[in-house]
Amino acid sequence: MIIRENVPLSELTTMRLGGPARFVIEIETEDDCRDAFDFAADKNLPVYFLGSGANSIGKDEGFPGIILINRLKGIKTLEESPDRLVVEAAGGENWDDFVDFVCQKGFSGVEAMSKIPGTVGAAPVQNIGAYGQELKDTLKSVSAFDSLMSEFVEIDASTMDFSYRHSIFNSGEKAGRFFILSCVFEFTSHEMTPPFYASLQSFLDENKILDRSPATIRSAVSKIRSEKLPDPDETPSAGSFFKNIYLDKLRAAKAREKGVPVRETEKLDADGKPYLELKVNTGWLLEHSGLKGKTFHGFEISDKAALVLINRSAKTEHELELAKSEISAAVKSKFGLTLNQEPVYIEEPRLSDFNQEESSEEE
Ligand code: EPU
Repeated sequence: MIIRENVPLSELTTMRLGGPARFVIEIETEDDCRDAFDFAADKNLPVYFLGSGANSIGKDEGFPGIILINRLKGIKTLEESPDRLVVEAAGGENWDDFVDFVCQKGFSGVEAMSKIPGTVGAAPVQNIGAYGQELKDTLKSVSAFDSLMSEFVEIDASTMDFSYRHSIFNSGEKAGRFFILSCVFEFTSHEMTPPFYASLQSFLDENKILDRSPATIRSAVSKIRSEKLPDPDETPSAGSFFKNIYLDKLRAAKAREKGVPVRETEKLDADGKPYLELKVNTGWLLEHSGLKGKTFHGFEISDKAALVLINRSAKTEHELELAKSEISAAVKSKFGLTLNQEPVYIEEPRLSDFNQEESSEEE
């Protein structure tokens, strides 16, 4: 187990911000994982888990504890029949390599989540999703190290409290407790069926693509994303920086009065009860606030995908705070809606975060 000291967070995250982490340990085996938590207990230091750093923002003061980087590797087929595939993937695997593995086998469930930057172990934390697919729909369970009880555990997906960009791993009292060693997924041979997400549908129409196989959808999504989203290896960003906004009926009516399009989708809740989901595309809000392509304190709102904030020249997280508050204020004054950030800060979980519910649309 290699322990490095005083490593800048800017080197470990795709937004390229942040001061030094006191210690960094790369976890390559289950033994490394236990040893690393023993080391943390010995030193009485907090830990923070990192995959590829695509959704975490370093703070200027750095992190006074231990960063555990998930480097566990391996993808194995546990069960395969013509209509069912069960796969276990290690937490440190690259997410897109895993999607490729599943698509090459001809199974459906993650093809629309092609080219999302990050690792398999980070995927359940924020329940990643794209073009109508969400991780929660195929994940069965995870193996993790429970840092509170100091033991290896299996967690069933039904207990993960998934919703939009939300799970027990990033919210509530269990946030930051489980180091995800591997994930088990179950896929079917059923292809995706329309209605597709608008941008995917128009790509399929324009290119006269009728095939809906996982490999074809993967290739379409990869093309759409490569045209719109910056490559994090070349251009610092954290993918979508702002979340989309979900409203209740009253707030949706208020937003509509201000000319904001609110999309209605019939959904089923966890108990199978139907409800109407009311969603505002934050990209639309940014664009119609005249912010697309504009630069704030070294950060540019991408002119191709407004949710993406590109770090053009900023060196500090303080500049990010300034940029964020100016962008949020502009949208708030035009449409009365509050933006929420998607990436998380590298810091110790604070008790005040535990009960923090999304309040994106408060006046
Ligand atoms: N829109 C605009 N202007 C823009 C961008 C978007 O008007 O500049 C409106 C359009 O109406 C467009 C709609 O927003 O049709 C949706 O835009 P897009 O397809 O670009 O997706 P998104 O809602 O901006 C979300 C995810 C992405 C994911 C895409 C596709 C979040 C925070 N982001 O973005 O995820 O790839 O859907 O499913 O939910 C990520 O999480 O890092 C990420 C890239």
